Amino acid sequence: MAAPDSHRTAGWWRDAIIYQVYPRSFADGDGDGTGDLAGVRARLPYLAELGVDAVWFTPWYVSPLVDGGYDVADYRTIDPAFGTLGEAEKLITEARELGIRTIVDIVPNHVSDQHAWFRAALAAGPGSEERKRFHFRPGRGENGELPPNDWPSQFSGPTWTRVPDGEWYLHLFTPEQPDLNWAHPEVRREHEDVLRFWFERGVAGVRIDSAALLAKDPALADFEEGVDPHPYIDQDELHDIYRSWRAVADEYGGVFVGEVWLPDAERFARYLRPDELHTAFNFNFLSCPWDADRLRRTIDDTLAEHAPVGAPATWVLCNHDVTRTVTRYGREDTGFDFATKAFGTPTDPALGTRRARAAALLTLSLPGSVYLYQGEELGLPEADVPLDRIQDPMHSRSGGVDPGRDGCRVPLPWSADAPYCGFGSETEPWLPQPAGWSAYAADRQGADPESMLSLYREALLLRRTTDGFGDGPLDWLPAPDGVLAYRRPGGLMCVVNLSPGPVALPAHSTLLLGSGPLDGDGRLPRDTAVWLRA
Ligand code: GLC
Repeated sequence: MAAPDSHRTAGWWRDAIIYQVYPRSFADGDGDGTGDLAGVRARLPYLAELGVDAVWFTPWYVSPLVDGGYDVADYRTIDPAFGTLGEAEKLITEARELGIRTIVDIVPNHVSDQHAWFRAALAAGPGSEERKRFHFRPGRGENGELPPNDWPSQFSGPTWTRVPDGEWYLHLFTPEQPDLNWAHPEVRREHEDVLRFWFERGVAGVRIDSAALLAKDPALADFEEGVDPHPYIDQDELHDIYRSWRAVADEYGGVFVGEVWLPDAERFARYLRPDELHTAFNFNFLSCPWDADRLRRTIDDTLAEHAPVGAPATWVLCNHDVTRTVTRYGREDTGFDFATKAFGTPTDPALGTRRARAAALLTLSLPGSVYLYQGEELGLPEADVPLDRIQDPMHSRSGGVDPGRDGCRVPLPWSADAPYCGFGSETEPWLPQPAGWSAYAADRQGADPESMLSLYREALLLRRTTDGFGDGPLDWLPAPDGVLAYRRPGGLMCVVNLSPGPVALPAHSTLLLGSGPLDGDGRLPRDTAVWLRA
């Protein structure tokens, strides 16, 4: 168990293991079918035993849950389905006592249509001060019947919705998520207050949702393919916003992780300058296929783009928006693509699991911090959710083409023999657990030294107690085609075999941990990784 202040405290975030909790699906403390804070509090010892440094909670605020809580109605209140603010405060303290820091999720691009500001804007009518906090505009066409511009949505469907008085409002996501106007001083002030509110309650960090989308071209001009700058992605004004956020965070020693997805490495790195965000998610690694050359290139590019600004890289294989790792790696095309998430895409669970085990050792030995999505340590596959039970708006907004993201949000299995696999519900959980889910239960895996959970526990323990992991240099070692081999400080080495046949390991090395057994000749089989000490 990590002692609260012993481990790399000052720059803890530079090489932390951060566990993502999706509160609705983690553990149900009151039995009503929805995960909650009581459930999390009861499972804190599990997280401490796993050996994580921090927990990131996806939004737990009051919300109609149209987009799984990313439609926030009030940032200063916990949704009653999850608990109370008092419980959140207790949770933050109890976690801290176990050496686990808390990261909350702030969604600055939009609010829920049930947020007091939006309700006031609707009531106040066209031209009002209340509407200026959002993007309300008259429509185009003779009678204003056409949307004000042609911007493409982040989810499928239109980005503008017309209200009864004839004006339209902008929403990059669902109509229940109206976009805020970041040129409005009250919008900025309010968010800085919200940051303070949570830092004062002891949170150590903030994840910033859709961090590169907030600022909009003031003209709201039509989208032109290939024309820079994009009217709503990566606008220059964002840096000014994040500089003032950084000043707030610095008062509390808090840190940021931005959800910044930009293909341009130089533009991406601007968000990580020393007076802006501490870290940002690295989606290129997540979306990289299981291919040695491409992985190596992605790792090199990632390290190269972070180096000039002095920011540590972050590594992530999975989150609440993407197909689970085991399922993705069991497919021929292991890349990340919303459009190819269709049910029934063939996947080989045994292959996917073997690769996910190897990917765990790869990821955990790269320089920087690692995000671990709940259930990844159990090797959960993407669940098939019956069509009539799907709740994710991505599904309905795509006309049923995109299965949406519910398959990675199914309630966790804790105990193999308990009802609903020990999730804690007395009635069926909000998303059904598929048949066979109990095989992944944490209690069963905890008793099996060969399980994914045991691998993660052992790997995290070694990572915490052995020199060479986390922040610091990485040097590639000569290796056969299809094999990744690198050295970290202090003689630590990682070798991952993505080639079709077994390969010999470097001579004069000691095995620390393997994602699977070596073959009879002491060679590393395909889709297997090892940590060695020279
Ligand atoms: C982010 C979240 C996703 C959400 C979207 C809109 O991408 O991760 O779950 O739907 O933002 O807030």
